[in-house]
Amino acid sequence: MRESSAGRTPQHAQFVLFGAMGDLAWRLIGPALYNLHLDGHLPQEFALIGVDREISVDALRQRWRDGVDRFSRRGRAEQADWDSFAGLLQVHAMDLTQPAQYEGLKVRLDVAAEKAGAQVFYLAIPPRLFAAVTDGLASVGLQRPRGRARVVVEKPLGDSLQAFCRIDQSLRSHFEESQIYRMDHFLGKETVQNILAMRFANPIFEPIWNRRYIDHVAITVAESIGVGHRAGYYEHAGALRDMVQNHLLQVMCLVAMEPPVAYDADDIRNKKLDVLRACRRIPADDVRRFAVRGQYAGGWIEGEAVPGYCDEPDIAAGSNTETYAAIKLLVDNWRWQDVPFYLRTGKRLAATVSEISIRFRDIPHNAFPADTGLNSQPVRLVIQIQPQEGIILKFMAKQPGSPLRLRPVDMRFSYCDAFKTASPGAYETLLRDLLAGDATLFMRADQVEAAWSLLMPVLEAWAANPALDFPNYPAGTWGPEAAERLVARDGRAWLTPSAPRAAASSGRCD
Ligand code: BG6
Repeated sequence: MRESSAGRTPQHAQFVLFGAMGDLAWRLIGPALYNLHLDGHLPQEFALIGVDREISVDALRQRWRDGVDRFSRRGRAEQADWDSFAGLLQVHAMDLTQPAQYEGLKVRLDVAAEKAGAQVFYLAIPPRLFAAVTDGLASVGLQRPRGRARVVVEKPLGDSLQAFCRIDQSLRSHFEESQIYRMDHFLGKETVQNILAMRFANPIFEPIWNRRYIDHVAITVAESIGVGHRAGYYEHAGALRDMVQNHLLQVMCLVAMEPPVAYDADDIRNKKLDVLRACRRIPADDVRRFAVRGQYAGGWIEGEAVPGYCDEPDIAAGSNTETYAAIKLLVDNWRWQDVPFYLRTGKRLAATVSEISIRFRDIPHNAFPADTGLNSQPVRLVIQIQPQEGIILKFMAKQPGSPLRLRPVDMRFSYCDAFKTASPGAYETLLRDLLAGDATLFMRADQVEAAWSLLMPVLEAWAANPALDFPNYPAGTWGPEAAERLVARDGRAWLTPSAPRAAASSGRCD
């Protein structure tokens, strides 16, 4: 059973971060560890060992200080706070591809091994190096004992079902499934975790959470940023692999899953897996009816001209990588039969906003006069993931006065108003759970495998038939027209996200 994280942090832990000088450590892991430290959520005895080919304590401190100043939710570090955190940083220089060098790491870790509660090996490195590291760790026995050693990996976990299976096999040749923590940072977001609380800690939603009352579900993860400095990775990935295969499908599973029997890692993950297993296979010869891709052309975002994808640094001219993907899924089970789930995501869209829109069915009979305005906007529940964090119920109400007019109104819950405090960052939540040995918010291999296998027909069809119309949406819009047609064919439309805001403005309470 999953308990609250408080009180579960082990007394002792060793945290070995491979790739400590890299981008992930700089942007996300370092700032998250720093905040956990300031909030008193790290183990009392915590050995934080940054591993990289070329590394020194000074270089690591300098790089992480920069990362904290730029990316920490607390803003720039106060000198005293930084100094207390910087004192934790140790380093170990080694070439990860040299098996002989793992002995040195073991000796280093053995010094405090008898006290080491959890021993975390975080692979913040490209997946091509995973096998070298796990083989190296196993060659000196660092994959044991099972209850202590944990290995953490992040996407990209392959670029296809086959590639994922290869990576996973090599991880599992040394580590048990219970020792492997696969990160999907969306699962650490408070608003995403709250989906289960909303659905299963209240009696009012579950009775209407089904095909009788719900017309369709739309999940939007829109970003106004472009590909940034990640061309090398993104060119090969594209929006479907980068976002849909993991974040959007995981969110969909939380919306569509059956109630768990217990708030327990395996029970919840089993129920999520059932959703993926129930998704109707996309026919390889009819992918067009279920999936749409797009690539941004130059355009305007917040009054600034921005280049098209192919004019971004290090992107090949004429690249066929999609920066937008929309997909329609049907879940073949009693609860969801014939209720489409529309998922869309893209870069350089009109706003940065992630939300789930649950559109309820129309009333069965309209007793009001035709001119009252009923159904000018359908009733829906909007779960705002970011930057606004909250839930909005949109429904019809009588406008004061006469003649009788009906008008859509909003009933709002906002985290900021309700809790008056900033949510912890997703990485903070996940790192705390990792140290506590709680895998509920991490992806199990069978889930990742099911997600890949669901998307393979689309990936294969897209690879075999390059898009002829790229670029097909101007930066600063809501994506290609074909995405509108995807839902229009079903007599529906994407609804503009509830409160689009520019990327820079945050709805967070900080
Ligand atoms: C990452 C993707 O997993 O998630 C990025 O690789 C994307 O392309 C990012 O920008 C979005 O995450 P967040 O938390 O900023 O919404």
